[in-house]
Amino acid sequence: MNEHEDSHNIAVKRFTFEEECKDELRTRITISVPEVLDPQYGMYVWPCAVVLAQYVWIHRAELEGKTVLEIGAGVSLPGVLATRCGAQVTLSDSAELPHCLDNCRRTCQVNQLSVPVVGITWGQVTSSLLALPALDFILGSDVFYEPEVERSPHAQFWTTYQERSADWSIEALLHKWNLKCADIPLESFRANTEHLAGSSLPGSHTVQMMIISLKEPWKR
Ligand SMILES: C[S@@+](CC[C@H](N)C(=O)[O-])C[C@H]1O[C@@H](n2cnc3c(N)ncnc32)[C@H](O)[C@@H]1O
Repeated sequence: MNEHEDSHNIAVKRFTFEEECKDELRTRITISVPEVLDPQYGMYVWPCAVVLAQYVWIHRAELEGKTVLEIGAGVSLPGVLATRCGAQVTLSDSAELPHCLDNCRRTCQVNQLSVPVVGITWGQVTSSLLALPALDFILGSDVFYEPEVERSPHAQFWTTYQERSADWSIEALLHKWNLKCADIPLESFRANTEHLAGSSLPGSHTVQMMIISLKEPWKR
């Protein structure tokens, strides 16, 4: 995308995460996300992203100093927030979608952050995947699970998904890859609302949060 297109097709949206308490020392982080006015995947913030970012925000103490990979990051709201919360984050999107990798970089740039961005295509074992450090957490909003957790057996995959069909289930995949999954109720991290982080997302979309991890890390 050239500069001309950039200036005409990009709108910056702001998401503010803050403590609910009303004291003087209220903690607040605002993340600016440049969205490309294009209906393709990975060009704007999906409803799931703001819900996952809210989970990151509420659990930010667990992320401090930890290694985190965001997969299918698109405009990277959860990963960039995790960076601001003190995690060592790598952002990734499909190696075959350079415009999505550009979006990851653009969000970092707008937030004045230097975060590694790598092309990782689900299901492909590449040098970029193998070069990742051992991971504590993997973030993915509105993506399907891919078993790269194998190289980091204790990693947790924090993921949100949008309910689009009652027929879709990942149960067979969980069984196949020896994974377990915990559903996280939205109310437990104050995400049971149509408006998060001062935005109009997630709106009326049905978004669910779950944590996936290896059932028995030693049994590979
Ligand atoms: C529905 S969008 C969600 C984007 C972002 N996580 C969010 O919630 O705003 C799905 C993302 O997955 C990425 N993606 C799709 N297929 C992929 C693949 N095979 N490997 C890696 N990333 C992929 C897309 O480029 C896109 O950024």
